[in-house]
Amino acid sequence: MKILVLLVVVFSCICSSIKATVSYDDKAIIINGRRRILMSGSIHYPRSTPQMWPDLIKKAKDGGLDVIQTYVFWNGHEPSPGKFNFEGRYDLVKFIKLVQAAGLYVHLRIGPYVCAEWNFGGFPVWLKYVPGMSFRTDNEPFKIAMQRFTEKIVNLMKSEKLFEPQGGPIIMSQIENEYGPIEWEIGAPGKAYSKWAAQMADGLKTGVPWIMCKQEDAPDPMIDTCNGFYCEKFTPNKPYKPKMFTELWTGWFTEFGGPIPTRPVEDIAYAVARFIQNNGSFVNYYMYHGGTNFGRTAGGLFITTSYDYDAPIDEYGLLNEPKWGHLRDLHTAIKLIEPALVSAYPTVTYPGKNQEIHVFKPKSGACAAFLSNYDPHFSATMKFGNAQYQLPPWSISILHNCKDEVFNTAKVKSPTTQKKMTPVGTFKWQSYNEEAPSSEGSDTLAMAGLYEQLNVTRDTSDYLWYLAEVTISPNEHFLKNGQFPVLTVMSAGHALHVFINNQLAGTVWGSLKNPKLTFSQSVKLRAGVNKISLLSVSVGLANVGTHYETYNVGVLGPITLKGLNEGTRDLTKQQWSYKVGLKGETLSLDTLDGSSSVEWLQGSLVAQKQPLTWYKATFNAPEGNDPLALDMNGMGKGQIWINGEGLGRYWPANKAHGNCDKCSYTGIYNENKCNRYCGDPSQRWYHVPRSWLRPTGNFLVVFEEWGGNPDWITLVKRTN
Ligand SMILES: *[C@@H]1O[C@H](CO)[C@@H](O)[C@H](O)[C@H]1NC(C)=O
Ligand SMILES: *[C@@H]1O[C@H](CO)[C@@H](O)[C@H](O)[C@H]1NC(C)=O
Repeated sequence: MKILVLLVVVFSCICSSIKATVSYDDKAIIINGRRRILMSGSIHYPRSTPQMWPDLIKKAKDGGLDVIQTYVFWNGHEPSPGKFNFEGRYDLVKFIKLVQAAGLYVHLRIGPYVCAEWNFGGFPVWLKYVPGMSFRTDNEPFKIAMQRFTEKIVNLMKSEKLFEPQGGPIIMSQIENEYGPIEWEIGAPGKAYSKWAAQMADGLKTGVPWIMCKQEDAPDPMIDTCNGFYCEKFTPNKPYKPKMFTELWTGWFTEFGGPIPTRPVEDIAYAVARFIQNNGSFVNYYMYHGGTNFGRTAGGLFITTSYDYDAPIDEYGLLNEPKWGHLRDLHTAIKLIEPALVSAYPTVTYPGKNQEIHVFKPKSGACAAFLSNYDPHFSATMKFGNAQYQLPPWSISILHNCKDEVFNTAKVKSPTTQKKMTPVGTFKWQSYNEEAPSSEGSDTLAMAGLYEQLNVTRDTSDYLWYLAEVTISPNEHFLKNGQFPVLTVMSAGHALHVFINNQLAGTVWGSLKNPKLTFSQSVKLRAGVNKISLLSVSVGLANVGTHYETYNVGVLGPITLKGLNEGTRDLTKQQWSYKVGLKGETLSLDTLDGSSSVEWLQGSLVAQKQPLTWYKATFNAPEGNDPLALDMNGMGKGQIWINGEGLGRYWPANKAHGNCDKCSYTGIYNENKCNRYCGDPSQRWYHVPRSWLRPTGNFLVVFEEWGGNPDWITLVKRTN
């Protein structure tokens, strides 16, 4: 009896100690003593609502995923120094616990640099203004701040018992993000920094492996991993590290002014199969659900509010078919052959031109094979064992037991869904027009010369007014001959409205590739004092690039007035007054309370085609549970709020330029290959989360910069 009890105790100790480990070898991540082929998908918690999370996670599980991967968004969690936010869409613990409840693992990419088409790459803007700060290098203030935040997150996860050895779902973490190219560029301080980052992370003793993606010299025990459209040629920097694909791009982001990129699922499945047959053991889809860049979270310049990414689950949380279903079928096939994959290296043979056969045949008796036809034009008949197999161009077949074709990457069985937007409501608008402010206002700041925008706004608003007065002598010739002088304004970006004596004189804007802009136009000045009001608008802050924290925004000049009697007058160094944000922002017109502080025009007086106009309306939620969106066609550029929540920036007047040639799944894919909707607005529909609505009396506010027709705005429901 005694002996038996002792045995049970010893046995259960072994069990729990096996249960409580995550490690790795050259073949795979090892969980509970078992090597695993893991299929993972990125879902970023602030890009949907907590109410959407359970369904997204369920669809990920039903789609055959084992892991959910997410970044951690520092600027969402620490909006001002020491003031933390883990509520609502930033409730990271809740998100992870929901993943756990669904029986999936988590790959937590703490960063804290995340890139991610997220404002400022995830860094809080205040971080830039910590004295002596220099991002992502061997810099004490940066390292102190980075360590403090990383520890904060790790300690939070530990206190909630979320790491796998504690019984939680987190099997892997990530420190830094795609640091390789930066390190290569800056040299020694970069090397020192990445060594420090690895040691710092390792010292936090999470009990699970850390990865550093896109970083060839990731110091031990960090695992270096691959991000891209394809990664089969990648090998980790040490023979004892597993080969992992931490970002397989399922599509691409959209920029205002650009078309909508898509990636055919046949090519995604092909990239997965090619990776797995070459010793790969972990694949993460970036994105599996892209979601929405709500409010002002979009970053990188000119990134749209939609972050749909052509992911298997679309922005609205609906299945993007056949992408979701075809990948589910792939995952089923990979699960079938997992025992063979984790227990053997492949034997590779070359039966013909552009053809390969990879066989995994461990001693255990299992057997799996991949037949590959890399030819982008021709299908192939391949003999293997006692059978023949038909392979479409650019495709790979997976054989269970080295015999049964359970999947071919180009034979898609899932049906295609038709995405539908059905109008379900219109609005009765009231309007309020905002004017260029007076330079004498109490909240304006007068300074000599031009100041960089972020330095003045600290990104509390997209908007910064640059206000100046220009005195014109009654003797100016142009007053008589009508040849008005040319005002030239050079700006670092991203968009600019020029007002002369409160009248809009013109609007210019840049693009992701070229954010800089120049306004140059003759302007109607009069004798005496003239008001020049420049409204400079940022459209998301840079998220990538060596020391992108030093990139400028706003009007830095020169500013000149050419064609006066004196020739050209330089306005660059004269006195300019600064006003941060719009009057409507200061008054909180996006809230019911704030909106009562001004007089709104109604009925036939509602402004049409008028710049700088606020619109408000109330509406009832439509019946049912279908996802909703606002069709903003007919409007120019601006922002939307519902019940005080920022829906995001809209800009349907920015049409998609580019190349929308025919799309074939065969051949090497890149983000310019299968673009769609050239000539249409880059983004016309804006997701309205159901959970933001009450049954009645929802308060919708739109701020329009350019002038638009609000009567065209419709509420639509999104169905498949
Ligand atoms: C798989 O890994 C083994 C061990 O590192 C190596 O010898 C072999 O060449 C690899 N095979 C492929 C197809 O990458
Ligand atoms: C930032 O703005 C302050 C005034 O608010 C000014 O003194 C300082 O020189 C500015 N710095 C830069 C780099 O423009």
